[in-house]
Amino acid sequence: MQKLSIRGGTPLSGEVRVAGAKNAALPILAAALLTAAPVRVRNLPRLNDVRTMVRLLERMGVKAEAGAHEVALDARMVAEPFAPYDLVKTMRASILALGPLVARFGEARVSLPGGCAIGERPVDLHIKGLTAMGADISIESGYIHATARRLKGARIFMDTVTVTGTENLMMAACLARGTTVLENAAREPEVADLARCLIAMGARIAGHGSDVITVEGVDALFGVDHVVMPDRIEAGTFLAAAAATRGTVVLTDAPVGALDAVIEKLRAAGAEVDVGSDTVRLAMKGRPRAVGLRTAPHPGFPTDMQAQFIAMNAVAEGTALVTETIFENRFMHVQELRRLGAHIDIEGNTAVVHGVPALAGANVMATDLRASASLVIAGLVAEGETVIDRIYHLDRGYERIEERLGQLGARIERVS
Ligand code: UD1
Repeated sequence: MQKLSIRGGTPLSGEVRVAGAKNAALPILAAALLTAAPVRVRNLPRLNDVRTMVRLLERMGVKAEAGAHEVALDARMVAEPFAPYDLVKTMRASILALGPLVARFGEARVSLPGGCAIGERPVDLHIKGLTAMGADISIESGYIHATARRLKGARIFMDTVTVTGTENLMMAACLARGTTVLENAAREPEVADLARCLIAMGARIAGHGSDVITVEGVDALFGVDHVVMPDRIEAGTFLAAAAATRGTVVLTDAPVGALDAVIEKLRAAGAEVDVGSDTVRLAMKGRPRAVGLRTAPHPGFPTDMQAQFIAMNAVAEGTALVTETIFENRFMHVQELRRLGAHIDIEGNTAVVHGVPALAGANVMATDLRASASLVIAGLVAEGETVIDRIYHLDRGYERIEERLGQLGARIERVS
């Protein structure tokens, strides 16, 4: 199994381009199911999750021609509206096929994703929303089976803000008869990127980026050529790594409008951050100051950046309280960070991070995607060698992380 070996202690320095956003790419690829016309998606990150989504579409009969950072999809013929367990279990985002399939073909069989390491993560709101739009849904042997003659518009209130839930229902509503109003919708920039793609396909969507999204259904959607937005979590991870190592980095092709909560906390930690039209420059002189935070749906502080900020706080001056409000079990990186010498207590859904002056390299294990990113940051700071095992988690969300951090001067290599 592949591992990363990191020799820490070097401040990051240099320029790196931000890749396309995984969490925008996945729903946009699923949206290709909504039309019989060709769909081209560009600025795709080269990630296992993206490959899994393309494989899932191919398994249904969609034709896919993949280039390095783009794919051409043709969903004219879909043999079977089916998302099998073996693919869904490796990537929960496969649930994004449900809405488009039932909307266009009147039927879908999608495996239930089951639990995952960071929490229970139910899909009840996806199911409730589609039911409100007239789908008949049953759960049979671990599969969601949905049928509908044609979905109809509905007013849907989601009592928890759900990103993929909002995306699934927004996609389904595009082909429903009548108007759908999604209330308490997710405001994440990736939802808005999906909406822009759907609008270019002929969908009638308003309010994306706010918490009320209105979709007026149409009979059919056209093809599209869409460029995926840059990844704000990857960008934030590079910035947190630069701050923790007391470095200076410039991000190009950065999603500047989507990073406000993260940049505000980096400034509070003492970083100088200059934001250009599509660049972000961060310089951290001296030791970071501890910054408290509480994760929340966008525009709050993203749960997907919580682990990386715990790593930065682990070497900061002072004590920080980091509260996780989205997922119930998202502190698995904490015990691995302790192996590197971090001093962190967990009290309920809050991590109390007592900054220490230095960390020391050790062998650690990645437990999930963002937890892995926090271990990389800690490894970049720690004196001596850190070896991170199970980096397939990292490869789900970061493209060639070792090369790109290497470009910033990190001493990092992939070993088997
Ligand atoms: C998406 C992101 C993930 C991010 C998360 C929160 C993708 C592919 N993944 O995941 O990286 O960490 O948003 O920003 O975009 N919930 C329910 N019922 C539902 C659906 C969700 O109770 O039907 C709850 C979840 O358990 C969780 C909260 O809602 O507590 C938010 O989850 P959700 O936004 O749905 O996460 P994902 O869309 O799976």
